[in-house]
Amino acid sequence: MAPKTWTKETYTLNTGAKIPAIGLGTWQSKPNEVREAVKAALQAGYRHIDTAFAYGNENEVGQGIKDSGVPREDIWLTTKLDNPWHKRVEEGINSSLKSLGVDYVDLYLMHWPSSTDPNDLKKHYPDWDFRDTWAEMQKLPESGRVRNIGVSNFAIKNLEKLFADKRFKTVPAANQIELHPNNPSLKLVQFCKDKDIHCTAYSCLGSTDSPLYNNETLKKLADAKGKTVQQVLLMWGLQRGTSVIPKSVTASRIQANFELDGWELTDEEFKHIDSMPERFKVCGDGWLPVKVFFGDDE
Ligand SMILES: NC(=O)c1ccc[n+]([C@@H]2O[C@H](COP(=O)([O-])OP(=O)(O)OC[C@H]3O[C@@H](n4cnc5c(N)ncnc54)[C@H](OP(=O)(O)O)[C@@H]3O)[C@@H](O)[C@H]2O)c1
Repeated sequence: MAPKTWTKETYTLNTGAKIPAIGLGTWQSKPNEVREAVKAALQAGYRHIDTAFAYGNENEVGQGIKDSGVPREDIWLTTKLDNPWHKRVEEGINSSLKSLGVDYVDLYLMHWPSSTDPNDLKKHYPDWDFRDTWAEMQKLPESGRVRNIGVSNFAIKNLEKLFADKRFKTVPAANQIELHPNNPSLKLVQFCKDKDIHCTAYSCLGSTDSPLYNNETLKKLADAKGKTVQQVLLMWGLQRGTSVIPKSVTASRIQANFELDGWELTDEEFKHIDSMPERFKVCGDGWLPVKVFFGDDE
């Protein structure tokens, strides 16, 4: 079979919606950089943008979308409900839509399974948790302002807790989680697959100052293929069946990260990457008032 044209590929979610396989990440993209980055990505052919209320850049992301000239309906836009907004889902989505300057988002994620008290970010609400938040989020697609709902940073334990809730109706369309060769989360990815929950790989390049860029196994493999380490990392994510959302504010990197058509990793190369022994995780849960990682996400 010929290698895929990944820049045009989509994954079908459990709702039937099609999420473009490659998107642009925007965490830590500063307000004065992200507008240009979003515009550059869309003009390079990206059709999927990932942002969040917590990134503080929804406004500029929206401006970048407008600057690009690409019609809104051709773009997959994901944003996320912030932790201190769990009791205010309506307000949260309305605020995001206003900042983004759009009528709807394609995917609205619960950013973390932590219902943080807005008056004290070190405290979790005593009378509310992510199951209550999900019960509210389930109402959103009816309104047309949110086409699909999903979660992020959900480990198996919390997904099971969610499924067991008596109000639970909608299986999350996606779980956005940290995935790269040093954090492959085999059990969690398989669990999501079994439940028909699509996984999107965040920090798919290993995030800021990624140690993966100097990994000898990856460097050798990339050199031999005439590809960059970043391209190899993205291809590994795509061939695992996950969407990838590499972040960059550098036009040349945004372009290079999208050069993924017409080639692939062989089974042997794929297995070689899978067998890399190093482990590291970018996002922990120490800053949250509640534990959300239990070891199956590593
Ligand atoms: N749901 C969540 O809790 C969560 C958590 C983390 C991330 N995310 C999402 O996932 C996205 C991606 O994750 P991430 O931002 O952690 O990191 P990432 O995409 O793994 O890596 C981004 C870093 O790699 C650099 N980079 C990108 N392409 C490169 C290339 N071709 N060559 C060299 N360096 C390159 C970027 O630098 P420059 O920008 O300077 O070019 C940046 O420092 C986020 O932006 C966000 O949208 C979600």
